[in-house]
Amino acid sequence: MEKVKFGIIGCGTIARFHATAIERIPDAELFGVYDGWRPGAERFITEYPAHIFESLEEMLSCENIDVVCICTPSGLHTEQAVAAMKAGKNVVVEKPMSLSLADADLLIKTAEETGAKVCVISQFRFSAAVQEVRRALDAGAFGKVVSGSLSMKYFRSHEYYASGGWRGTWAMDGGGCLMNQGIHGIDVFRYLMGEVKSITAITKTQTRKIEVEDSAAAILEFKNGAVGTIQGSTTCYPGYPRRIEICGEEGSVVMEEDSILSWDLPIECNLPVGEGAKNVASSDPKAIDVSGHVRQIANLVDAVKNGTELMAPATTGRPPLEVILGIYESSAKGARVEFE
Ligand SMILES: NC(=O)c1ccc[n+]([C@@H]2O[C@H](COP(=O)([O-])OP(=O)(O)OC[C@H]3O[C@@H](n4cnc5c(N)ncnc54)[C@H](O)[C@@H]3O)[C@@H](O)[C@H]2O)c1
Repeated sequence: MEKVKFGIIGCGTIARFHATAIERIPDAELFGVYDGWRPGAERFITEYPAHIFESLEEMLSCENIDVVCICTPSGLHTEQAVAAMKAGKNVVVEKPMSLSLADADLLIKTAEETGAKVCVISQFRFSAAVQEVRRALDAGAFGKVVSGSLSMKYFRSHEYYASGGWRGTWAMDGGGCLMNQGIHGIDVFRYLMGEVKSITAITKTQTRKIEVEDSAAAILEFKNGAVGTIQGSTTCYPGYPRRIEICGEEGSVVMEEDSILSWDLPIECNLPVGEGAKNVASSDPKAIDVSGHVRQIANLVDAVKNGTELMAPATTGRPPLEVILGIYESSAKGARVEFE
């Protein structure tokens, strides 16, 4: 098989990370792009040469496209991913893959029915630091895990929210500091701490003129018995790196973004400890490293060409959504939400 050919839908900020990742993968090639706003696509192809499609339908019926990257506002992801899979395409979908559990289930079911290969972008879960902590957890190095905390005190300006009409809306962003910025941390936290038993939370909109929350605090109980907290914000000036603490009765770890700050465990850490965060988007959404996208998209290319296993198939996009929507539900009801 020759190179795997990509189409990108939505030519905004994150699409540039997809196009750069595709450029860096020897077996991948960007074939064409589509944006609902044609000048956006025209500007994009001056940076990343490709064919411009005039509609989504035209891209989906093009035989040259093997994989579609969905880089549009979040409220469009499920509908466009489902249309792409039904047209016989494989899919890379940006986070969040859906804004409701019903939509997440539809996306997962469509992937099963069509056999399409789906990659849900959750680039931080596969960072070396997170995988190193996962290895320590699997080795039992923490003893019983008793407590975890996730802090995401970020800053996004009024100008950031004004930069796209969809930002900060329920219909297209699906939520605020948790559903948009915080989903990465929640994905990692949930991956490391395990399934959630109950959530009690408060979300608020304090300073930003948006429909969705700019502040959130939640108390969690995990099915393994541990307790935990999540704090999220987009209105904490100047914004601090994401911090995750996982504590066990025999050892603990502190992570800052993609680095390990403290490693107090009875097994060796294979990474540098205490160097501080390198990959920080706490006050600048573009300050993310492209290597996470390269890793995940290269994995999809391998799966399409050689049938290898996907790192983050559609099912892996559901657990962080469940936590975020549970936080919203608890806050709206003013009550604890229990999970089965
Ligand atoms: N993985 C990450 O770290 C990361 C970072 C930033 C954004 N994202 C996600 O990527 C998505 C896009 O965010 P962004 O910051 O790039 O947004 P953006 O506003 O910069 O870009 C969105 C693009 O989609 C186009 N568009 C809108 N409606 C369309 C439609 N119906 N059909 C085709 N094109 C359409 C817009 O014209 C725009 O060019 C969001 O879901 C966001 O959550 C992920």
